[in-house]
Amino acid sequence: MELETTAQQEKNDAGTARKVFVKTYGCQMNVYDSQRMTDALAADGYAPTDVIEDADLVLLNTCHIREKAAEKVYSELGRIRQLKAARAEVGRETLIGVTGCVAQAEGREIVRRAPVVDLVVGPQTYHRLPDMLARVREGGKVVETEYAIEDKFAHLPQPKKAEVARRGVTAFLTVQEGCDKFCTFCVVPYTRGSEVSRPVAQIVAEAERLAEAGVREVTLLGQNVNAWHGEGPDGREWGLGRLLYRLAEIPGLSRLRYTTSHPRDMDDELIEAHRDLAALMPYLHLPVQSGSDRILKAMNRRHTAADYLRLIERIRAARADIAMSGDFIVGFPGETDKDFEATMEIVREVGYASAFSFKYSPRPGTPGAEMGGHVEEAAKDERLQRLQALVAEQQHAFTVSMIGRTMSTLIEKPGRKAGQKVGRSPWLQPVIVDEKAGGIGDIIEVRIKGTGQNSLFAEPA
Ligand code: 5AD
Ligand code: SF4
Repeated sequence: MELETTAQQEKNDAGTARKVFVKTYGCQMNVYDSQRMTDALAADGYAPTDVIEDADLVLLNTCHIREKAAEKVYSELGRIRQLKAARAEVGRETLIGVTGCVAQAEGREIVRRAPVVDLVVGPQTYHRLPDMLARVREGGKVVETEYAIEDKFAHLPQPKKAEVARRGVTAFLTVQEGCDKFCTFCVVPYTRGSEVSRPVAQIVAEAERLAEAGVREVTLLGQNVNAWHGEGPDGREWGLGRLLYRLAEIPGLSRLRYTTSHPRDMDDELIEAHRDLAALMPYLHLPVQSGSDRILKAMNRRHTAADYLRLIERIRAARADIAMSGDFIVGFPGETDKDFEATMEIVREVGYASAFSFKYSPRPGTPGAEMGGHVEEAAKDERLQRLQALVAEQQHAFTVSMIGRTMSTLIEKPGRKAGQKVGRSPWLQPVIVDEKAGGIGDIIEVRIKGTGQNSLFAEPA
């Protein structure tokens, strides 16, 4: 699941403090990282702003997952160069930083191609941002793409209670980072490094702090979140399932989610958690990438289409109303029409509530990029279109199937139209209710009266 947003940030009313503007590309982990960078910088006297022209420090938190990500960053830097010049004319200095996965992958190349950049920081050293900025101010560029030996999470300051509240009643919490799976298309093992799990006590403490500040729903994040493991307070090795049981005990935390999962790491305890925990929302993002065993093998996924289908059967046996979401790649090297038909078939068999599909994009340094049999762009386009049409059909059917149902809704924010509030269904759909239906942070029972594109219109049940 990807996005391109400006981290929602409030204008600083102190007026005098230095301001930081963070633009976030890519996945939810980058959203989480942007918040943690903002927290680290708050301790250094920077207040967040959502007006780039006001920013004394501009950070682009970048994504490298597919093509053109780096090009996008360079063109954005072109615009920022003009901004920096305009601010300089009125005597204001602007520091520019590139963070995230493009920073990790490109390193010094970024300052070479875009001299406007003062700071390049990979995802593993955000806790050192204040130090690095001090070095920049002393004059000189700073490029940091080493993997820190110390635990960066232990060194990142926690946000203030008010800041958590301002970010809303839902929150992300990174529990695992990096990946050792080495799917042949994927750049993540190279940008985020090898798999690391955060310790249980650290995660529980962070979740408790979020709950105390009014957060009702937490989404646990990891590139392979269900590979998370750690030693529990009972001295036993815990998996993600056990961790979810523990988090479900935290007062006020009414909803739990996790993303993204790998089919090979869905163990029995995690499936049982879906059966036992009311707080664990019945929505699972479980990418399969392809329905063809030949392509799955070439992708080094180390499971077959049948393994995946059997797994979903077991998950649905544990939690009948679970909705599935997935990711697909079309046009992986060597993919034939027949392989693609197998992908269409697995989509038909699973029936997705939502799915994301992408044209294969060769990433430098990954085994896939070196493979023969690259698929022509026109074939990729055609396959993508067909797959997306099928997924859209399924998504629409899923949305319409909600009409007449009663479900819980977490009220999140005021609606776009006056008199409305927007909540979220257990299946991640926006739910539009009358503003008097409840306050922000309330979880209410509603009945679905109608649907929009992806949203639901509801009244209190
Ligand atoms: N080309 C196309 N899609 C990719 N993804 C990851 N790497 C590539 C690539 N090289 C997709 C996968 C993954 C999602 C986050 O992005 O489907 O699950
Ligand atoms: Fe992009 Fe993947 Fe890095 Fe997230 S982890 S920012 S999706 S490359």
